[in-house]
Amino acid sequence: MACKKPPVYMVHPITPSIRYTHMSTNQHILAIDTSCDETSVAITHERRVIAHVEYSQVTAHQEWGGVVPSVAKRAHEERIQWVIDQAIRRYDKTCTRDTFFANHINAIAVTYGPGLAIALEVGIRTAKQLAHTYHKRLIAVNHMAGHVYSCFVQNSNGNPPRDYTFPSLVLLISGGHTEIDIMHDHGTYTKLGETRDDAAGEALDKAARLIGLGYPGGAAMEALARQVNNADYYRFPRPMRSHDSLDLSFSGLKTKFLYTIQAMGDKEKNQSLNHLASSYQEAVFDSVVTKIRTAIKQTGITTLIVGGGVSANIRLRTKLRTLMRKQQGTVLFPPYPYLTGDNAAMIGVAAHYQAQRNGYVDDVGSLDRVARLSLAHS
Ligand code: KG4
Ligand code: ZN
Repeated sequence: MACKKPPVYMVHPITPSIRYTHMSTNQHILAIDTSCDETSVAITHERRVIAHVEYSQVTAHQEWGGVVPSVAKRAHEERIQWVIDQAIRRYDKTCTRDTFFANHINAIAVTYGPGLAIALEVGIRTAKQLAHTYHKRLIAVNHMAGHVYSCFVQNSNGNPPRDYTFPSLVLLISGGHTEIDIMHDHGTYTKLGETRDDAAGEALDKAARLIGLGYPGGAAMEALARQVNNADYYRFPRPMRSHDSLDLSFSGLKTKFLYTIQAMGDKEKNQSLNHLASSYQEAVFDSVVTKIRTAIKQTGITTLIVGGGVSANIRLRTKLRTLMRKQQGTVLFPPYPYLTGDNAAMIGVAAHYQAQRNGYVDDVGSLDRVARLSLAHS
């Protein structure tokens, strides 16, 4: 989605001598993400995750069939301090909050957009309080940049030891976003295309709801599709396939899916759930793969970074791996399952590179959430 507003925080230009102090390679960061329905805190060192704690609200939202902002906000407020304390305990059981922040943490990082405004506010408020109380610098991180860096997060032993390749193509594919970008360098992105309506995850969730699979539905659709070996029985349309544009669209596909199930009796529908899910998933992922192929053709870039909740899907991974093998290229996915969804570990790693560019918040008091923030504003 395009960003309508510029980010409201200021980048603080600091002199080289001060910069040396703040750019110590030993920087430990406490990172917070409350952008949607996970209350997540991580303690990171460069690309390594030393501790990570996440409190998922998914069951609180399930009965509503989607994330309810006011429920998310309250759940974040109720849990955030507990999640921080758990992360500190995992880092070092002997630390109190005071000794932890005084002796181990150099900066606080927080997601400031995109996401649910009132959910983002909880994390931002907490991060500001910590920065103020413990005299730490604050790094405001773009959540989508976090998803890019999710492919480069390492465990505490430094694995996997992946290298960056610049430029790379980026596919961000989640419940709120489907976009293709170029990553030119740390913090420098150009958007090539995006969905004109629903995100791919949203399209999967909506179809899942139509066949009674509950929320979120992406993983359930994947499981049904696997039962029929990902067969493409219904051959739903591949929207925007022939366009040179790298934009995507899923609303026509969703309508076609709706008409197909409306034309079925209940019995036929219930007997066809796996073929319906599989054919729909094939259509969504073929549209994405086609656009990545076009992006490679247009740019000549053959390294692809994939982030966001839908990157957990094995069928999507297989299709993208096949494509990149044919292109003699490389594709990177988040290396551990928890990194596909929303998490603070990726925010801590993105913050590390942002700190190297002096991307600290200048005036902590004025940091505000930007609910619609584009990756270009990283
Ligand atoms: O990145 P994410 O956790 O949250 C945001 O939307 O920002 O992504 C959630 C999306 C949901 O639409 C969910 O259905 C989808 O990711 N998802 C999957 C799978 N796991 C999660 N979609 C397809 N296959 C999966 N295995
Ligand atoms: Zn996300």
